[in-house]
Amino acid sequence: MSAAPPARRLYIKTYGCQMNVYDSERMADVLAPLGYAMSDRPDDAALAVLNPCHIRDQATEKVYSELGQIRLMKLARAEAGEVMTVAVAGCVAQAEGEEIMRRQPAVDLVVGPQAYHQLPELIARTHRARGESLACDFEPQAKFDALPARRPSGVTAFLTVQEGCDKFCTFCVVPYTRGAEWSRPAADIETEARGLAERGVREVTLLGQNVNAYDGAEGGLAGLVRRLAAIPGLDRIRYTTSHPRDMDDALIAAHGEVEALMPYLHLPVQSGSDRILRAMNRGHGAKSYLALVERIRAARPDLALSSDFIVGFPGEREEDFEATLDLIRAVGFAGAFSFKYSPRPGTPAAAMPGQVPEDVKSERLARLQALLETQQRAFNAAQAGKVLPVLFEKSGRYPGQIIGRSPYLQAVYLEAPDRLIGQIVAVEINRAGPNSLVGARVLETA
Ligand code: SAH
Ligand code: SF4
Ligand code: F3S
Repeated sequence: MSAAPPARRLYIKTYGCQMNVYDSERMADVLAPLGYAMSDRPDDAALAVLNPCHIRDQATEKVYSELGQIRLMKLARAEAGEVMTVAVAGCVAQAEGEEIMRRQPAVDLVVGPQAYHQLPELIARTHRARGESLACDFEPQAKFDALPARRPSGVTAFLTVQEGCDKFCTFCVVPYTRGAEWSRPAADIETEARGLAERGVREVTLLGQNVNAYDGAEGGLAGLVRRLAAIPGLDRIRYTTSHPRDMDDALIAAHGEVEALMPYLHLPVQSGSDRILRAMNRGHGAKSYLALVERIRAARPDLALSSDFIVGFPGEREEDFEATLDLIRAVGFAGAFSFKYSPRPGTPAAAMPGQVPEDVKSERLARLQALLETQQRAFNAAQAGKVLPVLFEKSGRYPGQIIGRSPYLQAVYLEAPDRLIGQIVAVEINRAGPNSLVGARVLETA
């Protein structure tokens, strides 16, 4: 037997949305055959990959500050006679490309989201000569075809089914960084999902920047969901992020009919003011959003909703902001992400008049988050005393404790043996915290 070559350490730092998390996992898959093993520290890495997000300004700046740290590690390693390769991937790479290498010379290569399958080759080339920048001039399909089989590490997994965006909301960089809407063929997705289920995955979250614009299967996303729900062992299906405009009747019906489709939906609305929604080019108003929520809840009464909000979009007045608070009160959200508007160079909104001062944005964000937090607490508190099916995912921080998720994506803590990990179990909920639930006991094993 020949000894395996010593593992080279691979450090990947991921920012941004779940699609970036999925992409980072796939980069690790692509690099594994080359002997790269994941490390959670950058300082001893042979290859450090930053997979950043471009969506807001702070997100981009964080990358440069992290790169500054990595540069120091790289210099220290060079003094010890060791090589550390530094790569920047993701949406920032796509948007800023070679600018990154100019601003931070420690960066050896830059690779856009459609070129990850070429990482091994790019790395080999940087070992010969420095500096390569590869942006999205590839078909997304090429990436998926070239990626190796997945090696999931848990009972839940992300699965990218759609990429890109044609909506051009006036504040957003995604249509520029991720390109046009594109759907993976359903058969490929099904094969990947079967593979995941065979390796013990019980829950998949289908990913796409506009996941419900998926059109790679008959019946769109609803058709795909029904196909995946038929895979033995795949008991839970979620999808994110959906756009209100693409929430069609078939998908709404699926929420009422497909048991595996979890009753939790992330449906970003951004604002409750029609004037602002128009300026954002969202293609929906406050009323149409509320009507949509009503239709979805009619199909699936126990469905819980979460959303994204932007405060301080150009021209937002106090009354527009109040309209957003009214919409939140009318819907009742189980969770939410909320942001101060961040002007992104090259997007239409960045050049709009009426930019809102920072202190006004901060003040509105605080009020918005206070209201959303109240709703989230109330939603969690309402679970106390109920019995919920929980999929247990891992051991907790304390011995004897395990952690899982409710259908509504709440973390559930329970004192129970590890053998329940990977199982869906009916748990009586004892009490609720702001972000999690505590289970009292197991009622039955499903
Ligand atoms: N495709 C998804 C979301 C993509 S970006 C959708 O349409 O909902 C995730 C969230 O980031 C958006 O929903 C929005 O709330 C926020 N976001 C995007 N651009 C932003 C900007 N320039 N400033 C602040 N928040 C922004
Ligand atoms: Fe951005 Fe709008 Fe596309 Fe979502 S739908 S990714 S917010 S442009
Ligand atoms: Fe960020 Fe790109 Fe996702 S900009 S939110 S990582 S699509």
